[in-house]
Amino acid sequence: MYVGDKYDKIVELARRRGFFWPSYEVYGGVAGLYDLGPLGTLLKNRIVDKWREWFVRRHQDLVVEVETPIITPHKVLEASGHVKHFTDPIVECLKCGRRFRADQLVEERLNIKAEGMGVDEIGRIISEEGVKCPVCGGDLSNVRLFSLLFTTTIGPYSHDIGYLRPESAQGMFTSFKRVYEAFRERLPIGIAQIGKVARNEISPRQGMVRLREFTIMEVEFFFDPENPSCEVLGRCYGKLRLLTADARIKGVDKPLELEVMEALENGVIKTPWTAYWMCVARNFISDLGIPENQMYFEEKLPNEKAHYSAQTFDQLVRVSRWGWIEVSGHAYRTDYDLSMHMRYSGQDFRVFKRYEEPLTVKTQKVVINKALIGRIFKERSSNVINAISSLDVNTLRTLLTSDEEYVRVEEYLIPKNAITIQEVTEKISGKHIIPHVVEPSFGAERILFVVLDNSYSEEGDRVVLRLPRSLAPIQVAVYPLVNDEALEVRAKQIYEELVNKGLYVVYDDSGSIGRRYARADEVGVPIAVTVDYQTLEDSTVTLRDRDSRTQIRVRRDEVAIKILSFLANSLNIT
Ligand code: GLY
Repeated sequence: MYVGDKYDKIVELARRRGFFWPSYEVYGGVAGLYDLGPLGTLLKNRIVDKWREWFVRRHQDLVVEVETPIITPHKVLEASGHVKHFTDPIVECLKCGRRFRADQLVEERLNIKAEGMGVDEIGRIISEEGVKCPVCGGDLSNVRLFSLLFTTTIGPYSHDIGYLRPESAQGMFTSFKRVYEAFRERLPIGIAQIGKVARNEISPRQGMVRLREFTIMEVEFFFDPENPSCEVLGRCYGKLRLLTADARIKGVDKPLELEVMEALENGVIKTPWTAYWMCVARNFISDLGIPENQMYFEEKLPNEKAHYSAQTFDQLVRVSRWGWIEVSGHAYRTDYDLSMHMRYSGQDFRVFKRYEEPLTVKTQKVVINKALIGRIFKERSSNVINAISSLDVNTLRTLLTSDEEYVRVEEYLIPKNAITIQEVTEKISGKHIIPHVVEPSFGAERILFVVLDNSYSEEGDRVVLRLPRSLAPIQVAVYPLVNDEALEVRAKQIYEELVNKGLYVVYDDSGSIGRRYARADEVGVPIAVTVDYQTLEDSTVTLRDRDSRTQIRVRRDEVAIKILSFLANSLNIT
């Protein structure tokens, strides 16, 4: 067995059996870029399918899925604030020229928390504490901000700057009105998207945990801020483990366990929809096999939150080498993004909220005697009317209460009897609002690593990947016990039958049966079918459970049905 810590063993297994490995290895590799091999691709697809099951299919009355481009024009990310704010602090060695992420360098050297610190503060700490280049010991430059956006040009014009999207969210914000209209103008509505994003991390060093390109799975959930109640909150059950920002500031590091309603009533979670999607996130991550006591939600401190967020909880899961790592973020983005896109695009992103009953309201209206204005001001009269119209009713009322016969508006002296304020009664059927947004957001490859880390186990000298059955990339192994044509023919028939049932199946006839079981166990194949000599006599085969290693004999004609029940967790072999 490979020698190293659990992380090293997983990385070695991943390379050898085809889960993942560094991209472009033949040219020395590029930090933060990883290939998914055949098993890794299958596993990622299963994780993505599960996410879609939890966040979209089970919420099809509330959430729809879209796909928008990776290439994003400058204007979109300027409006969203990413051009300005999507940065990390960087520092350069003045001697060897190497560049480092400044907050991480300070954290590693001084064992303090520096995430979210401003450049001046990090620079001061570096100079006061005498932090030097960790490679050559040289002096360090001033700290500056480094943009994490990958920049490109769109088409042949160098001034048409574009970026690879750092999140899929902006595609959902910019298409919000289209989706809203296509889906019968309802709130709340969630728009989900799964796709690649790219972030030009300064020095990614945590393998699959920090990638420069990864698959994001996120929902932008739009709701009426005047009616933020969540009608499906009753579907949440169980407690959430929460570590609040206040508790963190006080030095507490143990999460509280709170019922969702308690967390909302105490104001720990600001909106019911955030709480709801956190419950779904907890259920999704548990469904991947992660025990609930190995995860909690940590509220970000004000200086750690993204620029668009009024409140953020990160869902943390414990892994072997890196300790607690984030698997999802839950940001309350308010109307920040839609408002910014309204401002930058000039388009109206508001929605019309119709009242159940029209409201009757009394309003004050300015009436201008245009004939009189025309007689006095002649060709300047339209300027005068515009000047009066630009003032609000209250300002005009104050002007009209003066003792003078004339009021001055801009440079015009206007007789008071040309302006009157009248009370009118109007029926109002609704009003325009900008929806608020909560966002649950996950990284698929990082979750893939978490799943492998959680499933990896050793039994004596054997590795068993105890993946949940529903996640296993290869679902069944089929073996003839020995190389004998009569057994092989029957085993191949079973292979074909299972493939035709929609399963991923491996047929393996090389080496001893023990070695074949071991090969399947280390990539998490949950069940194996073995055809042996007894099969030729009584048409039965054995089914072997990866986890208990128990074998049962079943009739040949029951193999497919038993395996499907086993994979659906309705049959256990113990
Ligand atoms: N959209 C969430 C994120 O960028 O992390």
